[in-house]
Amino acid sequence: MKKTKHQALCMLLLLGSLLQAEVTIEDKVSDLLDKMTLQEKIGQMIQRMPASGMNSEFIDLIKSGSVGSLLNAGTNNQWQLRNQFQHIAVEQSRLGIPLIYGRDVIHGYQTILPIPLGLSCTWNAELIEKGARMAAIEAAADGIHWTFAPMIDITRDPRWGRIAETCGEDPYLTSILGAAMVRGFQGEILTAADALVACAKHYVGYGAAEGGRDYNTTWIPERQLRDVFLPSFHAAVMAGVGTFMSAFNDINGVPASGNEFTLSQILRGEWKFDGFVVSDWASMHQMINHGFCQDEKEVAFKSVTAGVNMEMVGNAYERHLEQLIAEGKISEKLVDARVADILRIKYRKGLFDRPYNDGRGRDAILSSSHLQIAHQAAVQSAVLLKNDGILPLKKCRIALIGPLADSPFDQMGCWSGDGAVSAVVTPKAAFGERLGANLYYASGIKKSRDIGREGFAEALQAAAKADVIVLVLGEEQSLSGEAHSRAFINLPGAQNELAAALVETGKPMVVVIMAGRPLTFQNISEHADAVLYYFHPGTMGGPALADIIFGDVSPCGRLTVSFPRTVGQIPIYYAHKNTGRPPVPQSLGIPMGTPVDPREDTSKYMDVDYTPEYPFGYGLTYSSFVYENLRLSAPAMKIDGELIVTAEITNTGQFPATEVAQLYIRDLFGSVTRPVKELKGFQRINLNPGEKKRVTFVLKAHDLGFHGLDHHYVVEPGAFHVWIGWNAEQGLQGEFTVVE
Ligand code: NOJ
Repeated sequence: MKKTKHQALCMLLLLGSLLQAEVTIEDKVSDLLDKMTLQEKIGQMIQRMPASGMNSEFIDLIKSGSVGSLLNAGTNNQWQLRNQFQHIAVEQSRLGIPLIYGRDVIHGYQTILPIPLGLSCTWNAELIEKGARMAAIEAAADGIHWTFAPMIDITRDPRWGRIAETCGEDPYLTSILGAAMVRGFQGEILTAADALVACAKHYVGYGAAEGGRDYNTTWIPERQLRDVFLPSFHAAVMAGVGTFMSAFNDINGVPASGNEFTLSQILRGEWKFDGFVVSDWASMHQMINHGFCQDEKEVAFKSVTAGVNMEMVGNAYERHLEQLIAEGKISEKLVDARVADILRIKYRKGLFDRPYNDGRGRDAILSSSHLQIAHQAAVQSAVLLKNDGILPLKKCRIALIGPLADSPFDQMGCWSGDGAVSAVVTPKAAFGERLGANLYYASGIKKSRDIGREGFAEALQAAAKADVIVLVLGEEQSLSGEAHSRAFINLPGAQNELAAALVETGKPMVVVIMAGRPLTFQNISEHADAVLYYFHPGTMGGPALADIIFGDVSPCGRLTVSFPRTVGQIPIYYAHKNTGRPPVPQSLGIPMGTPVDPREDTSKYMDVDYTPEYPFGYGLTYSSFVYENLRLSAPAMKIDGELIVTAEITNTGQFPATEVAQLYIRDLFGSVTRPVKELKGFQRINLNPGEKKRVTFVLKAHDLGFHGLDHHYVVEPGAFHVWIGWNAEQGLQGEFTVVE
């Protein structure tokens, strides 16, 4: 009898826990929705930015349930202020729904990594994931829940200032690196205190701004949208990204924040995304400027029906949703669906269980392990473009010159608002530590844009005392990033003149370029003995540069964007089409700026080579590699099969170095024309001098497809070329066919 009682009790407990376990997030979301008034629902759809700390007006808004999210909310280290807002939401609003704090944690928080374009040049997804993890740990300790990253726009235009925030021109690479960032930000468990909800932005096509002018119109045929601009966003969904941000641009006449096709049909319909979409800053309201909405009410209507859940900065939802429902233009059900997506993410993030920050974890901010990640990322982001053999430098007397050689703020690059300037180690500081009295420093010009030559004399004096000049040129921080596009992408200010004056000294010269975009600098690279492209390398840019320059490590970065010879070649990218009259070898080597007689009627320029200055995938090391013995497991593969492609790579130089082996394919004939090359795989391999390794790629037929005339994904049988190479222009070539 006793036993039976005990058994019954156990059964009850089990049943109880089963019942409890069955309360899913979806149940919680719909229970909560049932309790909410329409005003409270609309409140969840509003993201606000408190102008300054606490004020009674703001407190009242939170209390009344009219705020779903806060943007920025305080500067860094203000986690207690964020807690205060949260206490009001959780303890003083009717339903106690927690706020979600969003902020731009783009390439680090207080510890700053290289700008994303530089990070992408590492081709190191593992390191990029680690970097995003690091950023999340720091930001979460400061009370942030949600980052507006990763930015996974594809761009083929270095005039566009926001190229700095991208992973470059390639959809395959961006998909892999963007997914790594999502994993890094969100961590293994989103409810963990140190995880941030990630945000895939800017959806979509923003990087195709006409003329590279930020916010400009985009025209993207659906096939190109699906083949080039959408894959990285789909990859983010597959990686579990919690949120999306709708972009500023209009796509084929329909602004991204009112675009039902991209936000509902593709994102939710085809990809089954069940997180929420936040508009970019006032991008909903700007649909009036686009000429797509005549007033704010229409803005609210078009955004909510298209699929934007939350309005970032703007009043359209706050002022008009209720009326739109009252007039029967939209249903309350639609609002419920939009709010459900927001609540779902708040539950997934665990905000209802742990709304407050407890101040723990803050010792990780700028910790030595974080600085080490920033250091490693800076080393791996550097791309060696030229080396006559001068690098690595032996210990000698060095003249370190240039506006970026000792500019901590600029070195952090755009979107580093929370970055700790005081923690930045510049090349001057790092070289000084190594060289002591053998370092002669002069800025030459103070800021990259300065045109004055007052500092030249001091620079020439420094050069006169030294054996080698290391000249650090580039762009100051404010020349790239949002709304910072350039029509000229040369070195600004008097930098060319400074370089020319230093060339005159006849001293060997290493040029380092820190910039937010690919620049054109042919005149300088012609005269320099070595050129290292460093983008904006972040907090540890100085020590990482010293490691490279003095040969502690070999540079290993590879470009993720084609560098034009001149701005007139833009857009220039490796995965272009062949055209009906492709350029021929004789069209190579056309001197810049001097029209030659057209030698043949091909798709080329008369006054500059048609090829890029440096191709996608390009980068040197201190060693040399030989590729041989390309092998394919079969001459043909089934349309649902796979093929193994291998090659041997030998380090034939004197230095241990990292090679990035790249797998490209070309579909020779298609029902629509195909690019001359497409990246389909890559591997980073470390090789000691004399060491040989075989790299192996598994090429799946499914990955060889494209969107056909009907815009559906298709893999077509036929002939393909395949390369394992060291950049988009050079490699071992093989061929195979895909058969039904
Ligand atoms: C506008 C930018 O386009 C976007 O990337 C950013 O996340 C928001 N402002 C918030 O700062």
